[in-house]
Amino acid sequence: MREGTAPLIRREAYTPPAYRIPAVELVFDLDPARTVVLSRLSIERDAAAAAQPLRLVGEGLSLARVLANGQSVSFRVDKDESGREELVIEQPPEGRFVLEIKVGLAPEKNTELLGLYTSGGGFFTQCEAEGFRRISYFLDRPDVMSVYTVTLRADKARYPVLLANGNLQSQRELDGGRHEAVWHDPHPKPSYLFALVAADLVAREQRIRSRAGSEHLLQVWVRAGDLDKTEHAMRSLMASIVWDEARFGLPLDLERFMIVAVSDFNMGAMENKGLNIFNSKFVLASPATATDIDYDGIESVVAHEYFHNWTGNRVTCRDWFQLSLKEGLTVFRDQQFSMDMAGSPSARAVRRIEDVRALRQAQFPEDAGPMAHPVRPDAYQAIDNFYTATVYEKGAEVVRMMHTLVGEAGFRAGMDLYFQRHDGQAVTCDDFAQAIADANPGSVLAKQLDTFKRWYAQAGTPRLEARSTWEAEAGAWTLTLRQHGLPSPGQPEKQPWLLPLRLGLLDAAGQALPLQLDGEDPAGAPTERVLVLDDAEAHFRFVGLPAGPAAPVPSLLRGFSAPVLLDDGLDAAQRLLLLRHDPDAFKRWEAGQQLLQAELMARVRADGPAATPLSAGLVQALAAVLRDAGLSPAFRALALSLPSEGLLADALAAEGTPLDPQRVHAVRESARQQLAAELASDWAEAFEAHPDRGGYRPDAESMGRRALANLALAMLCLDATRRGDPVWPGRAYQRVKDGKHMSERFGALSALVHAQAELAGPALERFHALFRDEALVIDKWFALQAAAPEPLGAQAGSVFQRVRALCLHPDFTLKNPNRARSLLFNLTVHNPAAFHRADAAGYVLWGEKLAEIDAFNPKLAARFARAMDRWRILAEPYRSAALEALQRAAARSEVSDDLREILDRALAD
Ligand code: TRP
Ligand code: ZN
Repeated sequence: MREGTAPLIRREAYTPPAYRIPAVELVFDLDPARTVVLSRLSIERDAAAAAQPLRLVGEGLSLARVLANGQSVSFRVDKDESGREELVIEQPPEGRFVLEIKVGLAPEKNTELLGLYTSGGGFFTQCEAEGFRRISYFLDRPDVMSVYTVTLRADKARYPVLLANGNLQSQRELDGGRHEAVWHDPHPKPSYLFALVAADLVAREQRIRSRAGSEHLLQVWVRAGDLDKTEHAMRSLMASIVWDEARFGLPLDLERFMIVAVSDFNMGAMENKGLNIFNSKFVLASPATATDIDYDGIESVVAHEYFHNWTGNRVTCRDWFQLSLKEGLTVFRDQQFSMDMAGSPSARAVRRIEDVRALRQAQFPEDAGPMAHPVRPDAYQAIDNFYTATVYEKGAEVVRMMHTLVGEAGFRAGMDLYFQRHDGQAVTCDDFAQAIADANPGSVLAKQLDTFKRWYAQAGTPRLEARSTWEAEAGAWTLTLRQHGLPSPGQPEKQPWLLPLRLGLLDAAGQALPLQLDGEDPAGAPTERVLVLDDAEAHFRFVGLPAGPAAPVPSLLRGFSAPVLLDDGLDAAQRLLLLRHDPDAFKRWEAGQQLLQAELMARVRADGPAATPLSAGLVQALAAVLRDAGLSPAFRALALSLPSEGLLADALAAEGTPLDPQRVHAVRESARQQLAAELASDWAEAFEAHPDRGGYRPDAESMGRRALANLALAMLCLDATRRGDPVWPGRAYQRVKDGKHMSERFGALSALVHAQAELAGPALERFHALFRDEALVIDKWFALQAAAPEPLGAQAGSVFQRVRALCLHPDFTLKNPNRARSLLFNLTVHNPAAFHRADAAGYVLWGEKLAEIDAFNPKLAARFARAMDRWRILAEPYRSAALEALQRAAARSEVSDDLREILDRALAD
């Protein structure tokens, strides 16, 4: 923790490094209390750079020795203007020289989980973004790449497994019960991809042969008791390897590829070269302990980290402003992979719906709040604060739009060119976009690349308005598109974005109509096409449509072809038509959600009772979807789920209505109860019609059946509880007790808890007793209680009281990030009505826990702080109370740099 405020680092201030470090030798004598790190750096000044001091950055290191070419050298340890600790050598030797640095560390005291730390009795590292400087003085920036040779020494009994990047070169016994392993990674890499592990672990192993015939060893390393939970991770890894080779021609370039699970981890996982380190949540799964959602999470995170091997590691980022170069592209790739794994067109559409839902839930609010920033940010104080939904998920949408604009084959050609040009380099987002454009010279992307690249530069979600006119006699339909952006921090004005709009047109019977633009040949007009909007306003006139009084109904932004907020101006009847007939499953879902959202918002805005029922027309349309056996169960479950309170809050904010989270909750809960009651017999039928067939299988089809059955059970319990009928809650309780697998058990437990059924308490106790030794299951147990809907009426507030009590539960700890997130993030992010209370008790709890977390893990604290990002959209009394809590948090004497940036932004005018 430093005094004052960290300075702003600007993208435009980038200068290439004056020194290079082509080779690094590291020797670790590992000990939890005092680890000694000896580094031998081969350093040379860049031919183009003037003679200048060498400045190596370090953090919290105790320096023992510095030698240049084996000789003592004059150096000082200093703070630069911004307060960063540096080892400065004013006059380094000319030419290539070896700098030897010896430092000491205390891994067991490292509670930030950045650099070298201990967890569960082992040693682990996390170096992205700026953790390597906590291991040794270095040019800790991604455009400095080195070949690493790493020697690990440790007590053999306590740390029998010694791992680092690359290939194992040698192993031997040492005196005093210690042993040694030497690893060599032939691929030059930036320091953020360095990793080591020393622990008592076992591995699931798999040997594979690539298409080209090369042999590889795959390993998933876990604690001895967890070996039976590694099958899905290994399968996912093998599928990822096959996919990347088939789809992008990108092979595994290492003899050995390792995944290691660790239970204390700040994020999801880390793509260290050849030695991926994972939050155990994204490795460990057995049918008995993991739900379908966990299985999906493992599949996509394993794929994500594996795909980084090319998009991130082989071609890396020039500087951290380019983070989306690797993250946006790699998320795009893992989403494509998950779609391909899903199989059927319907299952693919379900994936897309889930991705869009996640984007709207996390990224749209970010883009409308104080943390709004471009996909390629212009300035930051703490880079860890910019591992955001914008850089990841919006970044992936930007890549996806390029893919849409140049087509599948064109995109592949662009990727090929990207690797041909930049393999082994540290490059920028511009370099990526240029490669995709250059490989597709005739495309809109190539012709208007600068306009397209505004997606990288401008923050905020574009607003797109679509209106149309119908010439009944001529059979001509004209679409008018207008777009604009709202001001965001540091960007008062926005220029128009270039975006692909995928659309279709339906007639009154729901039949697809041909799309022939004025002036085009009528022959072979398609029923779906992609328009490109590249200006603030544009008109498109379609002709050759059947004349008559009924205007066609547009289906706009199919597949969510651009990340915009669309106002399509359609009325309920038109949306009902799309819900019934749109050939694009995403749009069918979207139409249903829009109908629901419109009705819910009208009830939130009105002064009358929150319990005004949903319209009969809408309920019938939803019932029809629920009954339609032609639709996949997964799709039906999504279509029958109400928009979340967070999404409703965002929509209210977008129209300027002050947000009363209690009212939103009351409106949504009563709609949920209405759907539960009015569709009760359909829910029962859906439940009975979707039993699990055979044993547990984590494929899209089986998961969809379980999703629908679980939703149905939740609705049945909700309705039964209100009616005082014990049958469904009894069945759910039975399932908690002896369900065949975790998806079934946890689905039943959730149904009871979400219904506030009397049996929820006993079921929670029983569940805890069954799984007390399974940390990841206990995380779920906390999470479920923290996200449970507050009861309406006299019992309101009981969920919050429960969470407060659970903070004192013997199993609860802030020190483990998964556990802290399970209780506190679920309350503050996913349970608005429990968190935003008129008595401000939620904000008080937030402030207390924030201070506690910040004292030992600032990165986690900075993430937790973001629960208050959007305090400005709140109605009174919430708004003033939230502001006060933020001001109190900012006024504390000790605030980390990470947290300071978030609080300052939230409080800035
Ligand atoms: N690069 C990692 C990923 O996208 C995420 C990451 C960044 C990370 N910083 C981290 C993980 C710090 C753990 C800790 O997969
Ligand atoms: Zn990533």
